[in-house]
Amino acid sequence: MSAESIITIQGLDTYFGDHCVHHDLDLNVYRGEVLGIVGGSGSGKTTLLREMLALTRPAKGSIKIFGHEIIHASLNTLLSIQRRWGVLFQQNALFSSLTLLENVSFPLEEHTQLNASTIRDLARLKISMAGLPMDAANQYPSELSGGMQKRAGLARAIALDPELLFLDEPTAGLDPNTAAGFDELILNLQSTMGLTIVMVTHDLDSLWKVTNRVAFLGNQKVMFVDPMPLLVKQADEQIQAFFSGPRGRVVQEGYTHGN
Ligand SMILES: Nc1ncnc2c1ncn2[C@@H]1O[C@H](COP(=O)(O)OP(=O)(O)O)[C@@H](O)[C@H]1O
Ligand SMILES: [Mg+2]
Repeated sequence: MSAESIITIQGLDTYFGDHCVHHDLDLNVYRGEVLGIVGGSGSGKTTLLREMLALTRPAKGSIKIFGHEIIHASLNTLLSIQRRWGVLFQQNALFSSLTLLENVSFPLEEHTQLNASTIRDLARLKISMAGLPMDAANQYPSELSGGMQKRAGLARAIALDPELLFLDEPTAGLDPNTAAGFDELILNLQSTMGLTIVMVTHDLDSLWKVTNRVAFLGNQKVMFVDPMPLLVKQADEQIQAFFSGPRGRVVQEGYTHGN
């Protein structure tokens, strides 16, 4: 893995009213790595992801992606950067009135000048890269299983051949077999497309299997960023509670059943 930082976050402060979510938070994401983000409920994981996507604005600090400061970027700069990343939100955010093929074609229609038949060919390629059968292409999201919807969301997220992929709880709500299959798919895409991946997750299996490093959020900061084998050995109380204590299991169950 090269040490080129593709995302550099420095001195980030985030407030909702008086409530401080992040204070003086720093984080680097290196090209080619899969970085997991974990932390207790309310520790600011989703907010951090939204800030990287320029959907939420922090009070202070710097977020550089591909070398561009995104916090005060112009709309044009943002549009050119957004083309280079893909996002899979927890709810998939597929358009329910469009077929799978139309959903995956959508970003290509929005962001390229390619003709309709090329767009359809590229969309079919992404659908098969996401491990979906071609006869799913003409189905609507509601006709697909939960696992297939995730794959559909992923197919759309990689439509524009991004360098960077953001995933929010990609395996939440999936049964263990389907989740394991999705982990395989992420690893596969990461190596074939040379992706850098930032993934918020509570799924311990995914963390062990897919990530190179994991950032642990707590005390308004990124407290640790380590590969899993090192992270779980940190003597810190919050880490121990999260990964091994009864509270860790409660947090996990809360997400499996309640989120
Ligand atoms: N739009 C918002 N308005 C007010 N408070 C918010 C908003 N979004 C998040 N928060 C608060 O910020 C904190 C961090 O939220 P979030 O980033 O969703 O945490 P996590 O994803 O780690 O569970 C929580 O206390 C949450 O209630
Ligand atoms: Mg969240």
